[in-house]
Amino acid sequence: MPTRTLVLNVNGARHEVQSSTTATLAEVLREGLGLTGTKLMCNEGECGACTVLINSRPVLSCMTLAADAENKKIMTIEGMADLQTGALHPIQQAFVDRSGMQCGVCTPGMILTAKALLDDNPSPTEDDVRNALSGNLCRCGNYRRITESVLLAARRMKEGGKR
Ligand code: FES
Ligand code: FES
Repeated sequence: MPTRTLVLNVNGARHEVQSSTTATLAEVLREGLGLTGTKLMCNEGECGACTVLINSRPVLSCMTLAADAENKKIMTIEGMADLQTGALHPIQQAFVDRSGMQCGVCTPGMILTAKALLDDNPSPTEDDVRNALSGNLCRCGNYRRITESVLLAARRMKEGGKR
């Protein structure tokens, strides 16, 4: 399998990683960079667990070639908390406070999809949240609390002016 050095910008840091030319972004994040917060559930584009942000848009990292993510800004769940203080992002905190996770496998993808939603629409309705998260499956069936978590985060971010 041919390999080459990929240069990826992940969570604001530049990484050089040796990778097969056919590796997916999920594989390189998890195995090449050790960023295992990106989860793999179906590995075939069906569940949304592997969602990361590329240039602020949600993408399925299991369906994206790592090589296609070069020269773009990649955000994974590891980039959500404040890197200086370790404080959780308000969306993460809301998931904690509203029990928005059970096993947690879907949670990173849910949170990153929710971030893209709230960056675009700081005052979503419940339907807006459900629509935005419709590609993210939760095998624990925790949808009600996930939706409540995102709505709580939206309220707190508006009140606190934090994005
Ligand atoms: S693991 Fe990528 S969509 Fe399911
Ligand atoms: S919390 Fe288990 S898959 Fe969603």
